[in-house]
Amino acid sequence: RQPVDSPLYPLLAAAADYYRQALKSHATRKSAVEYLKGRGLSGVIARDFGLGFAPPGWDNLMKHLGGDALQQKALIDAGLLIENAENGKRYDRFRDRVMFPIRDSRGRVIAFGGRVLGDDKPKYLNSPETPVFHKGQELYGLYEARQANRDLDEIMVVEGYMDVIALAQQGLRNAVATLGTATSEEHLKRLFRIVPSVLFCFDGDAAGRKAAWRALEATLPNLQDGRRARFLFLPDGEDPDTLVRAEGTDAFRARIQQHSQPLADYFFQQLSDEADPRSLEGKAHLATLAAPLIEKIPGANLRALMRQRLTEITGLNGEALQHMAAAPTTTP
Ligand code: UTP
Ligand code: MN
Ligand code: MN
Ligand code: MN
Ligand code: MN
Repeated sequence: RQPVDSPLYPLLAAAADYYRQALKSHATRKSAVEYLKGRGLSGVIARDFGLGFAPPGWDNLMKHLGGDALQQKALIDAGLLIENAENGKRYDRFRDRVMFPIRDSRGRVIAFGGRVLGDDKPKYLNSPETPVFHKGQELYGLYEARQANRDLDEIMVVEGYMDVIALAQQGLRNAVATLGTATSEEHLKRLFRIVPSVLFCFDGDAAGRKAAWRALEATLPNLQDGRRARFLFLPDGEDPDTLVRAEGTDAFRARIQQHSQPLADYFFQQLSDEADPRSLEGKAHLATLAAPLIEKIPGANLRALMRQRLTEITGLNGEALQHMAAAPTTTP
């Protein structure tokens, strides 16, 4: 998946060192330290995740690593410098931001996310696609989760960097985040190679609920029998970071145990909201939506059980549903 060797790796590692060092000793570090403290992070967790600080200014990193034209070209390839297309001027991509290094499965730094210290936009700036960073495949925190526990039985998928880190600080060291993209089939394929169970826990807002349905769609083709996925929906306005800090680890664990919904339950509940199964028209619509999705499931037993459930809900028998499976569909 990643090139075995690339000159970009040592460069990205050196940048991560620079940012980490800047958080410890740069003259302007105070604002970043205060920011992280204000979000409840400890020094230990900042170290575990290699957090850093890109100081304000246009050329801090460039001065530190810049060297000759060749080196600057490599920094551009690594996504660390930007070259102005009109005047050819080069400058640091990440300025005055808290820096989150993104590591691959071997622990090599492959990219960064950077958060503003206040409410400016964009809130997070991420590295662009580079020869060593493919957004749709990577999961933030996966390396750290595996370092913390070699024997994971479930991985939690959340939306944000701070969700992963806040959960880890509260002792829930099995969270990963997609990097500002939707959960993909590729992500799920990776996760199910590591664990038999995936728990999705997105923000309690419209975007989070939409992300959950997309995650379900990406999960279906990966659902061999013996694997499972479940969904924890959070109260409006909460995300895993705010909630775990507000209610604590035990309550959050209890919430997972009591309120997470198996994929099949969420599936039929969501589709029943979309197409009301109390009317025949609704039943017909629901079957049209559900049948093609159920056929994506590779696990023969789960597929059969979900077909059966669809029959119970709609009254349509197996054969009618089979014909429908090929029909075009829309998703809620
Ligand atoms: P959220 O808007 O939920 O942010 O975006 P957050 O993670 O809760 O951020 P905090 O708590 O205010 O720090 C979820 C994720 O979407 C991506 C980031 O990965 C973020 O963590 N995102 C969001 C971006 O890439 N860019 C943005 O401008 C905003
Ligand atoms: Mn590649
Ligand atoms: Mn959100
Ligand atoms: Mn948040
Ligand atoms: Mn959030």
